[in-house]
Amino acid sequence: MPDAAEASTQLHVYADAEEVARRVTERFAELARASVAERGSFSVALAGGSTPRMIYELLASEPVRAEDFWTKTHVFFGDERAVPPDHPDSNYRMANEAMLARLSIPPENIHRMRGEGDAAANASLYEDEMRAFFGEVDWPRLDLVMLGMGEDGHTASLFPSTIALREQHAWAAANWVDKLNAWRITLTAPVINHARHVLFVVTGAGKAKAVAAVLEGQREPEQLPARLIQPVGCLEWFLDRAAAGKLK
Ligand code: 6PG
Repeated sequence: MPDAAEASTQLHVYADAEEVARRVTERFAELARASVAERGSFSVALAGGSTPRMIYELLASEPVRAEDFWTKTHVFFGDERAVPPDHPDSNYRMANEAMLARLSIPPENIHRMRGEGDAAANASLYEDEMRAFFGEVDWPRLDLVMLGMGEDGHTASLFPSTIALREQHAWAAANWVDKLNAWRITLTAPVINHARHVLFVVTGAGKAKAVAAVLEGQREPEQLPARLIQPVGCLEWFLDRAAAGKLK
């Protein structure tokens, strides 16, 4: 990773996935309080997959559920599968069951990324929805983007050797993923990179090789998309010891 990026990248390694979830919950609340205090609102793009579920459950539990920032929070999504919101694979469904349905976030502040229907149309609709909130700016400045990472180094739905990796204008993109034989909708790398804070949350030994390749290797982002994520703001990695196991 380029020296400049290393300087602004903070690495946190904890004993296990449960401690990672507790620490990420603390960091989320800290960033939310600061965003509301400084700007009157907190905009966050949630990560999909399975890792964040524990975090979302903690965020919707005492004491964090009682925090004042929830009424000023705007929830976006980093990516979505091409399925309806009640489908078992839906990132929205996971976040809603684990957190959103249990919190007092105004419904109009939950900006679901549509998975059902035409992926390209849904990506365009999502950009419209984001522009309605962030205004006519070149790039939105999300206060926080939470990201997971796959064993192939994908993040959000930016998969190796896929078209969306090169998107430099749209805020959200439809992305055909050959290996899944499926469409995805994803925030684009420039949107993620314009966030004030980006938190990667990666646990488990299965991810250790990819973590080491992303943080210490030289492979091109085309093959390891998480290396595209070099935010203008603060980049933090939250790992358990197993996922950090191959770091020097
Ligand atoms: C998705 C996610 C994706 C996820 C990684 C890790 O829609 O699947 O956005 O980028 O974060 O695939 O997934 P796990 O947490 O399930 O390992």
